[in-house]
Amino acid sequence: RHHVLSLADFTTAEYDTVLQTAASFQEVLSRRTKKVPTLQGQVVANLFFESSTRTRSSFEIAAKRLSADTLNFAAATSSMTKGETILDTAKTYLAMGTDIMVIRHREAGVPNAIAAEMDRLGVRVSVLNAGDGQHEHPSQALLDLFTICTLIDPANPRLELLKGKKIAIVGDILHSRVARSNIWSLIASGAQVHLAAPPTLLPKLFAEYFSEEPRARSQELLAISPSSPPAPPASPAPSSSSSPTPQLFLHWQLEPALQDADFVMTLRLQKERMTAHLLPSLREYHQLFGITRTKLQLCKPNVKVLHPGPVNRGVEISSDLMDDPEFSLIQSQVTSGVAVRMALLYLLGSGKA
Ligand code: CP
Repeated sequence: RHHVLSLADFTTAEYDTVLQTAASFQEVLSRRTKKVPTLQGQVVANLFFESSTRTRSSFEIAAKRLSADTLNFAAATSSMTKGETILDTAKTYLAMGTDIMVIRHREAGVPNAIAAEMDRLGVRVSVLNAGDGQHEHPSQALLDLFTICTLIDPANPRLELLKGKKIAIVGDILHSRVARSNIWSLIASGAQVHLAAPPTLLPKLFAEYFSEEPRARSQELLAISPSSPPAPPASPAPSSSSSPTPQLFLHWQLEPALQDADFVMTLRLQKERMTAHLLPSLREYHQLFGITRTKLQLCKPNVKVLHPGPVNRGVEISSDLMDDPEFSLIQSQVTSGVAVRMALLYLLGSGKA
C-alpha cells in the first residue's frame, strides 16, 4: 500500500501491522528520549485545508519523533488566498522534496485526487487522508481501534480482540467521517456495531454507501440490501435467512444500542455541516442521545466511552463523565494518536505498508 485514503479495503493483516507497530512506538514514547532516527531526511507535509487541533499536532509530533522534517500548511495563510489551486499547492510541496503528504479537506475525495495526481506524475510520494469531508478519517479510526485493543490486551493489540464485542456509535452519523472509518474497522474485527441517531442524523443512503465496489465483502457482512429504505427504529439491518449474522444495527433510539454495550463511541454534532432542519435542539439531543452516567447503567459494568473530539461538552456527553477516567477514554485516544500516526508514517515512509 502506497497511500492510506480509506479503511474500506484494509485487510486484517494490515490492521494488525498498524496495531503492533503502534504498540512498539508506544514503548519508544515511554522512554526518556522518545525519538528514533527512522525517517531521518524525509519530509512530512501537513496540508490542512480545514481546521484541526489534534490530528495536525499529532501528525506533526509523530513525524518529529521519527526524526522527519515537517512542513505545516494552513490554507488561510497560504497562496491559495491568491487563487492557487489545491493540486498546484500539492505540487509545490512535492518540489520541496516532500515524501509524505498528510491531507485534510472539507470536501470528500481531495486526498484521493492528490494521490491520483502524484501517481500520474510517477513520483513516490505517499498520501495520508487526515479527514475528508463526510467521507473518511482513517487515522482516527485506527487510533480508536488501538485505544480499545490495548485496553483489552496491552501486550498484544490485534483486531480479533474485538470479535463479539458490542460497540455503540452514537450521534451525528450523517456527517461523520469518523463513524464511516470506524464502521469499516469494527466490522472487519467481527464486533457487533450498533448505530444510534435521530432519524435526521442517520444517512438515508447508508445502505447504498456500503454496497458500492470495492465494498462487496462488507455488503455481504452487513447483510443490507442496496435498495433498503432508511432503517427502521431499533432493529437489525435487513437480512435474509441465508445471510451471515448481521453485524451492523441501526437504531433511532439510544437504549437498544446501549443495552449491554462494551464500548460507546460518541460523535460530535457537526453544526457547521448542518442545515437548521436537521438538528433537534441541543437540549433535546442531550436529553435523548447525550451519554450520561444514568444512561450508561444500561451498558456492561466496565463500559468505556470514546469521543474523537472536539467535544461539545454537555451535548454528546455530560461534562462530568467526559472527565471521569473510570469511564472516559478521551485523553487516551489523543495519546494513542501519536503512536498510531508514528506507525502510519513509518510504514509508508519505509515502504513497509
Ligand atoms: N478528531 C479530530 O479529527 O480532531 P481535530 O479536528 O482537532 O483534528
